[in-house]
Amino acid sequence: MESQELRRRFLEFFSAQGGPATGGKHTIVPSSSLVPDDASVLLTTAGMQQFKPYYTGEADPMSSPHQTLGGKFLGSRNAVSIQKSFRTSDIDSVGDETHLTFFEMLGNFSFGGYFKEEAIRLAHEFLKEIGLKIQYVTVFGGDKEVPRDEESKKFWSELGVKDIREEGREDNFWGPTGAEGPCGPTTELYINNTEVWNIVFNEYYCSKDKKLRKLEKPGVDTGMGLERLAMVVQGKKNIFETDLFMSIFSSIIEIIGDKPIEKLRVIADHLRASIFLIGDGIRPSNKEAGYILRRLIRRAMLNHYKYIGAGLDSKFYLSPAEEIIRIYGKVPDYNNLREEKSVILEVLQKETDRFSKTLEKGLTEFQKLLSREKNKKKYAVRWPPKNLRKKSAYTINAISPKEAFDLYQSYGFPLELINELLAEHALFIDREEFDEEFRKHQEISRAGKERKFGGHGLLLDTGELKAANEEELKVVTRLHTATHLLQAALRKVLGESVHQAGSDITPERTRFDFTFDRKLTDEEVRQIEFLVNEAIRQNLDMGYKEMPFQEAVALGALYSPREKYPDVVKVYSARNPETGDVFSRELCGGPHVQHTREVGGFRIGKQEAVSAGVRRIRGHLLKTS
Ligand code: SER
Repeated sequence: MESQELRRRFLEFFSAQGGPATGGKHTIVPSSSLVPDDASVLLTTAGMQQFKPYYTGEADPMSSPHQTLGGKFLGSRNAVSIQKSFRTSDIDSVGDETHLTFFEMLGNFSFGGYFKEEAIRLAHEFLKEIGLKIQYVTVFGGDKEVPRDEESKKFWSELGVKDIREEGREDNFWGPTGAEGPCGPTTELYINNTEVWNIVFNEYYCSKDKKLRKLEKPGVDTGMGLERLAMVVQGKKNIFETDLFMSIFSSIIEIIGDKPIEKLRVIADHLRASIFLIGDGIRPSNKEAGYILRRLIRRAMLNHYKYIGAGLDSKFYLSPAEEIIRIYGKVPDYNNLREEKSVILEVLQKETDRFSKTLEKGLTEFQKLLSREKNKKKYAVRWPPKNLRKKSAYTINAISPKEAFDLYQSYGFPLELINELLAEHALFIDREEFDEEFRKHQEISRAGKERKFGGHGLLLDTGELKAANEEELKVVTRLHTATHLLQAALRKVLGESVHQAGSDITPERTRFDFTFDRKLTDEEVRQIEFLVNEAIRQNLDMGYKEMPFQEAVALGALYSPREKYPDVVKVYSARNPETGDVFSRELCGGPHVQHTREVGGFRIGKQEAVSAGVRRIRGHLLKTS
C-alpha cells in the first residue's frame, strides 16, 4: 500500500467514525503551518498543537472559529488530521532506521467527546483494517503523582492484545509542547519493534513550574508517523526504503551515479525538510527557525561533500528538490509547494551557493594551513604511530587542533570533514585534542555568560546537575545518562569494589569520583570508554520504575552510600529492549535521555586522585558537528 493510499484511508476511516454518544464524526482538519501560532515553540512538532485551546477549554470546537478551516467551526468534538511536523531533537539520529527531522503525523483527536476505551478501539480497528497486527503495547505504569493506567490495560486485553508492558514517566507520559500545556499518560503501539502510534490521554494541564492540574474535560491526542507506518505496511527495514523516499534517491543518483543509499539518507531528509520549511515561509538566517533551516542545508551539503565529494553546487539540489516538490505538491494539503516552487528553488539555490562559497574558502584556507612551513615541522612526526615511523619518510604536513577548531568556528567544518581532508595526507587530528579546543572555547563563552548574569539564573541545580538554560539542560541530561553508563562500565572493568563517591555535572563535563586505589591503565580507560560507547550504540531504553528502597537494593541497583534516600525511590535502568539485558541500574532522581543513543558519544578525559582510595575522572560528550 502506497503512502498516498495510507493518508487517504486514515482520513476516510476516522471521518466515518463517531456518533452522538462520542461527540460526533471526526472533522477532517488540514495541516497547520510548520510555523505555529503558539509562540512557545519554534516549529510545529505535533498534530495536537493547533488544537491546544480546545483541550484547555479556552476555545470550544462547536463555536470558536478554527484557523486552518478558514474560520469555520470544527462542529464536532472530534477531529482528524495529517500534520506537517518537525523535530530538531531527532536531528542527530537522522540516518538510522526510524528518525527524521520532518515527518507527517497522522492523528485523531477528541476534545471531551470520547476517551480511553473508544480511542483504543479505534486505533486497533484502523490497524486491523489496513492489515496490521499489533506486536505489543505499552501503558503508563503509575508513579507518585499519576496512577497506573489500569483502564487502558483492561481495554487492550479485551481486544485480545496479550503483550501489555508498563513504562514510567519517561516513556509513557506526554509532556506539553512548549513551556506549558495539556499532558497526560500515553499508550503506545508497537509493530516489528517499531513504535508506530502514540495515544495521549490529556487529563492534565502541566504548568511552567511542572505542576499538574486536572483538566475539566479529558481529551485524546494521537500521533502516528506516516513514514513509520509506511515502513511496517510495506515490509521495509527502514523508513528510507518506503515509497516516500525512493524517487528522491533516484533523482539524486541520477546526478551523482550509483551510491549506497545509506550515505544519502541525511541529504534526502534534510532537503525534504528544508523545502517544507521554506514553503511555510521560513528563510535561512542566524536565529530561531531560520537558523534551523540554515543548519539543515549546511548539514546536507557537508554530507554531500563527505560522501559524494566534488560537484557541490546548487545545481545538484535542483532536480532532487524538483522531485520532492513534484511528489508532495500532489498532496492537496501541500499544494503550496507547487505554487511556490520558483521561490523555494530560489531560496535553496541562494543558500547553497552561499555555503558552497564558504566551503570553498575554508578549503583554500585548509590548503594554506597545510602548506605552511611551521606546520611541516611541528607535526611531521605525529603519524604513523611511533613504532612504524621512519623519520625521513614522513615529513608530512598537518594542521594543529587549534587550527582545526578555527576552521570549524569560521567555516563550519566539523572534525569529521577535517579528518576526511587530512586522510589524503595519512594523518588525523586527535579527537581529544580537538575537543579540548572546543572545551576551551566553551569555557570562555561560559565565563562571559556567567559574568553577564552575575553567575545567577540556573534553570536546574540538583546539586549534581547544573544548567543555565534549555540547551544546557539537554547537554547535562545526556551527560547524566553517560555518567550512569560510566559507573556501570567502571564496575565491569575494575570490579565491584568500585562505588560512587561523588558526581558533578556541568554542560562541559561530568566529574565522577569513585572508590579505587590506583591510577587506571590506558588499556582500562580504553575498555571503559568502549563499553560506554557500545551501550550508547545499542540504543538502550533508559526508563525508571519506582519501588521501596530495600527492594531496589535487593535488585542490585547502585546507590551512593553517603546519601540519604526516601522510603520509595526511583530506579533508572539502561535496558536492551530486545534481550531485556540491563547494562546499568541506579537509584536516581533523573533527568535522563529516553534512549542511550541520544547521548551521542562519550570520551574519558583527565583522571586524578582525590584522596587515599578515591579516584576522580572527567568525561565529556563528543561534539563532532
Ligand atoms: N502529541 C503526541 C505525539 O506527538 C501524540 O500526537 O507523539
